[in-house]
Amino acid sequence: MKRILTYGTFDMLHEGHINLLRRAKALGDYLVVGLSTDEFNKIKNKKAYFPYEKRKLILESIRYVDLVIPEESWEQKIDDIKKYNIDIVVMGSDWSGSDKFECLREYAEVIYLPRTKGISTTKIKRNCGELLRVSGN
Ligand code: CTP
Repeated sequence: MKRILTYGTFDMLHEGHINLLRRAKALGDYLVVGLSTDEFNKIKNKKAYFPYEKRKLILESIRYVDLVIPEESWEQKIDDIKKYNIDIVVMGSDWSGSDKFECLREYAEVIYLPRTKGISTTKIKRNCGELLRVSGN
């Protein structure tokens, strides 16, 4: 049984997230998602539209996701790998080569998957803002 771990904010879930989750799950049998808490997002200079509990509810309903755990700090990752017996840590290619994940190679395999082009939560937010402006709302 191969156990996979990935991290992220997964706000306003879109096809880039689904592709990442599907490909991550395909690398093994059990997928754990470390979901950034609202407090941790502040540390990352991110502000999610949906609060943690709602993002968790949505992620838990995705067939590729077996378990959602809170991501509360950069430092917790080695403990997560040990606690959940993780074989592979998977991240999107925007994290490729980052020290934050490279340092985990001692404890698990680290794989970066290519990002889906042309979509991000930031882009959805921006496009919604433009739509509202055009429609005069
Ligand atoms: N991801 C991806 N392809 C995309 C967008 C995200 O593969 N087009 C991956 C990221 O690389 C990460 C995971 O999905 O491994 C969660 O990314 P997250 O930062 O939550 O999503 P983004 O859409 O990138 O959010 P933002 O625009 O706020 O940075």
